[in-house]
Amino acid sequence: MHIFNNGKYKSLHAQQAGELAAIRSEVLKDKDFYPTYHLAPSTGLFNDPNGLVFDGQHYHIFAQWFPYDAIHGMKHWEHFVTSDFNIFHKADRLIPEQLFESHGCYSGGSILWQDKIVAFYTGNTRRSDDNQRVPHQNIAIFDKSGKLLEKRCILDRAPVGYTEHVRDPKPFITEDGKIRFVLGAQRENLTGTCLLYEMDDLDSLPKLLSEFAVQDVDNSNVFMWECPDLFQLADKTVFMWSPQGKRRERYRFQNNYHATYALGSLNGNRLQTEYIEELDYGFDFYAPQTVQHSECILFGWVGLPDITYPTDKFKWHSLLSLPRQLAIKNERIIQKPIVKLSHKQAVELTEKIAISNLDCSYLQIFPENEPLELNFFRNSQGQVLTVRYEKGLLTLDRTHTEQTELMAGFGSLRHCEIAHLVQLEIFFDRSVVEIFVNGGEKVLTSRFFIANRENIIESNRLLSAIVAQVQPIQIR
Ligand code: FRU
Repeated sequence: MHIFNNGKYKSLHAQQAGELAAIRSEVLKDKDFYPTYHLAPSTGLFNDPNGLVFDGQHYHIFAQWFPYDAIHGMKHWEHFVTSDFNIFHKADRLIPEQLFESHGCYSGGSILWQDKIVAFYTGNTRRSDDNQRVPHQNIAIFDKSGKLLEKRCILDRAPVGYTEHVRDPKPFITEDGKIRFVLGAQRENLTGTCLLYEMDDLDSLPKLLSEFAVQDVDNSNVFMWECPDLFQLADKTVFMWSPQGKRRERYRFQNNYHATYALGSLNGNRLQTEYIEELDYGFDFYAPQTVQHSECILFGWVGLPDITYPTDKFKWHSLLSLPRQLAIKNERIIQKPIVKLSHKQAVELTEKIAISNLDCSYLQIFPENEPLELNFFRNSQGQVLTVRYEKGLLTLDRTHTEQTELMAGFGSLRHCEIAHLVQLEIFFDRSVVEIFVNGGEKVLTSRFFIANRENIIESNRLLSAIVAQVQPIQIR
């Protein structure tokens, strides 16, 4: 075992006595923004959800994690186990300790294989002489209790024709019992793509079958595809990925990077696409991943690469989205959050109404397609979060909230075209808002920062609503 300890490339094995406890005490100083029912890091930074798998009884949910600070340093995998998405237990983590993961255990997915959880992930390494990145693809084998049994490298370089940006394997088991995985990649001509590998079993080496082709994708300017995922949803095949480099548009692709999906049918190693869309229209959503059991459930990262947040000073950064059940309606993906609600009550929204614990609550309204303006949490400094709907356009406005320079760099309005606004379901959790439109046809996921907020809603018109408390999660 190597104890990596080189600046931000420091593994948990190199922690000093009391070091994480001291960082945790900084996190606990954040009285305003740390969430109550979303999975967030105990210290440091979370990014992508990883390794999602159902082991027959429990879901295992991992997350990219840098424990020491709110920056992208040495990546570990934090590990949660749950059967109900409400009570979570921690289990063995992936900690960089081998040369094939010397600069971090990067993203990947898991399968259940012969009663073991097999996590496929990218070992980020850099050559010592010239610092050149060399991607390794590795596996880590856990038993169902979450104990790590073994790790090994299965590919120690990028394939010919591709750069060193080859990462994020997402495995699945084929109908004839083989293992396949999709892998995000950059071609030598600096365009983004996805590779498809196959293994007969865990003892054989992966064979590169081909690129996984997605028909009708506009790949202009796209230099990398991160975090691919390929799965079946009802009678459709879905390919989900996070392309980097897409040009921003007025009402679409409004962030620096995006999460997208293509839906259609498989034809060999190619998706015959019927529909392509962004998965989320909010300010902060990236690198989602799914797990299949009786339902297909998705988690995303409520955050984006290259963005700082006001909680960085408290030494924590980003979190995972709510789990969302995916389904298909009218040939599109719809997303429904999985949460436990209590204390449901009907309220009338008026010019101004106070709602206790609004900042950890669920709000449901039926705007009947009429123009709407709702202001939330206005504090004495005039900070406020606004949701507006007019002429077919839903807007989330965080202009009058605290933002870092990098957050504001991509504008402080996010839009989503909705021809008929029937229903809004809004989940607030301190500094996170997830808005599900028309039963999950569109979703907007965002961070927002209003300290000393008042739990009030101002509405431009009388509107009946339902509010409920969202049960906090427990991590044991
Ligand atoms: C996506 C990503 C992945 C990579 C991981 C590193 O956010 O850049 O491509 O594996 O994060 O933390």
